[in-house]
Amino acid sequence: MQLKNKVAVITGARQGIGFGIASAFAKEGCNVVISDIDQAGSEKAAKKLQKFGVRTLAIACDVSKGDEVRGLIDKTAKKFGRLDILVNNAGIFPSVPFPKMTEADWDSVLDVNLKGTFLCSQAAAGKMRAGGKIVNISSIASLVGFEGLVHYCASKGGVNGMVRALALELADRKINVNAVAPGAIETPGAAKTLTDEAKKGIVAAIPWKKMGTPDDIAQAAVFLASDRSNYITGQVLVVDGGWTLR
Ligand SMILES: NC(=O)c1ccc[n+]([C@@H]2O[C@H](COP(=O)([O-])OP(=O)(O)OC[C@H]3O[C@@H](n4cnc5c(N)ncnc54)[C@H](O)[C@@H]3O)[C@@H](O)[C@H]2O)c1
Repeated sequence: MQLKNKVAVITGARQGIGFGIASAFAKEGCNVVISDIDQAGSEKAAKKLQKFGVRTLAIACDVSKGDEVRGLIDKTAKKFGRLDILVNNAGIFPSVPFPKMTEADWDSVLDVNLKGTFLCSQAAAGKMRAGGKIVNISSIASLVGFEGLVHYCASKGGVNGMVRALALELADRKINVNAVAPGAIETPGAAKTLTDEAKKGIVAAIPWKKMGTPDDIAQAAVFLASDRSNYITGQVLVVDGGWTLR
């Protein structure tokens, strides 16, 4: 898929969908920067990818902090001399009923999911050449509503809006900006928030009758990060086993 010898930064990559994407990229021969708020977890994840024979780097970064984000991109450029792909994956999804949602709840979700995407995209775009790719991990919560996730749905709707506007701004530099919108995916983060009962209800509502895996999302990200999607920009690709079809 032509990711060989490219350099990708993936945020929130120590586990879950981010680690799935990092693994799929490494399998394609792409050098990967595993970035996460958790440094020890990032280092462990980076070590697991060494079997693919690519260069890896673990960098702790809270995507909601501009100085840390600029540090992440600068360190990447210094180590590899280039940056081809950014995957904005870091995200949080704490469930809070709307009447009880505090200003702090709202700010933390918007800061990580939406502001983090802005900060990382701006810093990374500054280093990318023609052929650069920005892939955002949105959610089907950007398209349909979920109770308890008003802040999360707003943040992911914001990501989709940003994808379209940024795709226009970066078109003349030949940098693609797209998103993947996952449905329900088996990850440590999802396991923490879903009771067995809730999971059963979700699986029953999905036409494919199962939750997705991180690799299901990673394969879409590989496509959107590769030269095969060069004429696709500003799009949101839903990967949800048909959940939102009805
Ligand atoms: N799992 C799902 O069902 C699902 C569905 C739709 C969208 N998504 C999206 O996919 C992405 C990954 O989700 P996941 O299920 O793998 O979650 P996860 O909780 O398993 O992993 C998320 C990772 O992001 C990191 N992170 C959290 N805050 C951060 C910050 N401020 N800066 C840097 N890293 C931070 C965490 O440490 C963790 O390693 C998120 O954007 C999420 O909204 C997930």
